[in-house]
Amino acid sequence: MKKKDSFLIQRLDLHDLCRKFGTPLYVYDANIIKQQVEKFKTAFGTIRYKVMYAVKSCTNISIIKYMKLLGTGLDTVSIPEVHMGLSLGFDPRDIVFTPNVVDFKEIEEAVDSGVSINIENLQNLESFGKKYGSSYPVCVRLNPNMISEIESGKATGPDFASANKEHYGDVSEVQVSAWHNQSKFGISLTQFDDILKLIEQYGLRINGLHLHSSHVILNKTVFEKGVKTLFKIARQFKHLEYIDFGGGIMVKHKPDDVVIELSDAGPVLKREYDTFCSETGKTITVWFEPGRFLMSEAGFLFTETVVLKTNGWIDFVGTNTGFHHLVRPMMYNAYHSIENISNPKGPIKKYNIVGNLCEIDNLACDRELNEVRKKDLLMIKNVGAYGFAMSSNYNSRPKPAEVLIINGQAKLIRKRETYADLVRNQVEIDF
Ligand SMILES: Cc1ncc(COP(=O)(O)O)c(C=O)c1O
Repeated sequence: MKKKDSFLIQRLDLHDLCRKFGTPLYVYDANIIKQQVEKFKTAFGTIRYKVMYAVKSCTNISIIKYMKLLGTGLDTVSIPEVHMGLSLGFDPRDIVFTPNVVDFKEIEEAVDSGVSINIENLQNLESFGKKYGSSYPVCVRLNPNMISEIESGKATGPDFASANKEHYGDVSEVQVSAWHNQSKFGISLTQFDDILKLIEQYGLRINGLHLHSSHVILNKTVFEKGVKTLFKIARQFKHLEYIDFGGGIMVKHKPDDVVIELSDAGPVLKREYDTFCSETGKTITVWFEPGRFLMSEAGFLFTETVVLKTNGWIDFVGTNTGFHHLVRPMMYNAYHSIENISNPKGPIKKYNIVGNLCEIDNLACDRELNEVRKKDLLMIKNVGAYGFAMSSNYNSRPKPAEVLIINGQAKLIRKRETYADLVRNQVEIDF
């Protein structure tokens, strides 16, 4: 295990941990989560800012509760996520509902619970205007069509296509740029006049402007342009209380990945923020909605090697997990570093590390690992975000347990599923 991996996890006997809770096992390190939250303070502490944890990245109630302790709000994308936040005692004002292409009924439910509303299409914005007029504030999500920056080569990112695949589909970086205007997210700036018309027609009180950062926060220059664009637009909204830069802030998956440092983004934002506040006489808040940035490096998936086999020239390491527990390698071609913690000094060999589903199920191909023996424990890294949250019961396999390492102790935060869980909601009919 490398030194900088994790403080608490380093000090625990991982074999003991896996014996106690079984494998496959998701483990989160509270210290890393805290450290990531604190990076926002270091970078943006001189302006008024708010971190809204993107619940969808890791939807465990103990993790969400821990975020409350760390002082974050919540970015939610479904009504059940809103309910989780409310039932854990979050102030509704610290929860934003940022759904995509939802029926207006969901927005009404969110309004009923008193949370902040973010609308990303003209249809729902119009319905909102008709129903609420100026009686309830609303934030609009914009799509600034800035992807040309990526086309021009100014913005680069290690994992760009895979990290943005959820937005753009299975496409290369070049294709991403061509597709951007067709992405389903946000209201295009080309429709900005329509937003203004709706505001006028219904007296809408726009209290927030939102721009999901993923494609603008890849480097300082592009981020600066995104920030400038948004602050320029912001001047037109007299009820504005916040600007929301969304999530999408990358973390390194490989040591040589290039990611933006939040501390580099801080001064860029502060300059525009200060100018805006002094010129408009308003002190607004800047929101961020990180999921990946807070959770990715804090999460580890432990799996046991069950079968070793060689087909042709490939040595396969068969594990007791798969894409039902970690879909990112198969779905986004995402790279997750893997270590053999049972044989850390063993000779280096190349393997395809595969899951146990009955179909192509690669966790990593052509990967160097310390020699793997049957029953060795492998540690898959950077899985805290979109790991468990995207897991399934495919092949009728139960989901793993989740453990949080906090104050030196390993606490179970989700029980391993059982056969009973798999069939709980199925209905056996009589013939
Ligand atoms: C609006 C919005 N906020 C926050 C997030 C969280 O992104 P990430 O986990 O990459 O920070 C997303 C992800 O797609 C998003 O669309």
